[in-house]
Formats: sequence, structure tokens, C-alpha cells
Amino acid sequence: MDFNLGLLEPGERYRLLNNLVIPRPIAWITSLNKAGIVNAAPFSWFNLMGVDPPIITIGPQYRYNFKKGIKDTPQNIWTGRTFVINIVNEKLAEKMYRTSGFYPADVSEAEELNLPLAPSEIIGVPRIAEAPASIECREYDTIFIGNTCIIIGEALHLWINDQLIDPERLHINFEAIRIIGKGGGSKYVRTDDVFDLKQED
Ligand SMILES: Cc1cc2nc3c(=O)[nH]c(=O)nc-3n(C[C@H](O)[C@H](O)[C@H](O)COP(=O)(O)O)c2cc1C
Repeated sequence: MDFNLGLLEPGERYRLLNNLVIPRPIAWITSLNKAGIVNAAPFSWFNLMGVDPPIITIGPQYRYNFKKGIKDTPQNIWTGRTFVINIVNEKLAEKMYRTSGFYPADVSEAEELNLPLAPSEIIGVPRIAEAPASIECREYDTIFIGNTCIIIGEALHLWINDQLIDPERLHINFEAIRIIGKGGGSKYVRTDDVFDLKQED
């Protein structure tokens, strides 16, 4: 079957492409609004784009449903220019999901859902204390293409649980960290069913 994507509605393109471009990493983003309220929400249109400098991108969509408009996370990033990407493991999956529900901008998901926070090292936005790792970021730029928005962030600082890293080799313990990813619809993936491909030098 062929699809001319230009002839489809955004919701149809979403159903097709969002179920094919998987699994996606999940950025559980904390950000601060003008009043200092901590917002938390997951974004799986997210990836690492380079390391020199270290650049990540996230794709917040407009709300198309009855709560139309711009989501709190991009608003806060544009206001404060800083945010934290918290990495999600299996233990945190439910809590992460619950922060994707609609909360008004002046309500903190972190407070409502009793998410313990910890101060970040170099930015004012706190990280999620139970996350296995958190990356402090500064907004580098935002690109708007029609109704698609891409926030480009520069990663400034990494915090990772000591148990999950060999500091000598900078080797992250893949089996122990148990990061989860996003499949289509309500599906999530574990990252512990892995295989090795022989690497040629
Ligand atoms: C695992 C997961 C991934 C998500 N990824 C995105 C995404 O990439 N872009 C987006 O706009 N919304 C995404 N959402 C929905 C947002 O989390 C949701 O709209 C949330 O209410 C936004 O919160 P905010 O207004 O506090 O920023 C995702 C939801 C879940 C559960």
C-alpha cells in the first residue's frame, strides 16, 4: 500500500509514522514556569543529534484537542531557556505516564504526583530524583515548520547514579539501567532483549 503523505490529515500521518519510527527514547522533561512551578512531562520525539557540541532535539506538538494551544514544556523552555531531560527506567514508567495527563500550567505535576526532585548542578530547574540519569540543557534554538516545532537544546551537564557507571571507562551499565522506550500507541519497549553485531575495526 502506498500513501502520499501530503494528502493525509495530520492525525492520519501520526497514526502511520508514529507507529513506524519506533522504538523512540523518552525525554522526561522538567522545566520551570515564570512563577517557579516545576512542570514534568514526557516527550518521545526526542534524540541525540551530535556530541561536539552535545545537541539534543525534542518535538513538542500543539494540542489539537479541546485543550488547544501550546504545551507547558515548550512555553517554559522559551521563558527560562533551560530544562532537564530525565532518563526513564521501568520502575518509573507509570509515574512518567501519569505526568503526560493534562495539568493546568499553574499546577506542578511533580507536586501532584509526589515526585521527589533534586537540585540540578548548574541550572535552576530541578531534576527528578529517582531518575537513573538526568541531563541539564539550555535551549539553543527553536525551529518552526508549519505546525511542527523542533526545540534544539545543548546538553550542559550529566548526572548519573554512581551504581550505573564505571567512571574509569565511562561505561554505562546497560543491563542495570533498564531504560525504556516508546513503541506505537500504548506500547513500550524494554532495552534488555539485546544482541551483539560483530563490529569490524
Ligand atoms: C511516552 C510519551 C511520549 C510523548 N511524547 C510526546 C512528544 O514527543 N511530543 C508531544 O508533543 N507530546 C508528547 N507526549 C504527550 C505529552 O507528554 C502531553 O501532551 C503532556 O500533557 C505535555 O505536558 P505539558 O503541557 O506539561 O508540557 C508524550 C506522552 C507520552 C506518555
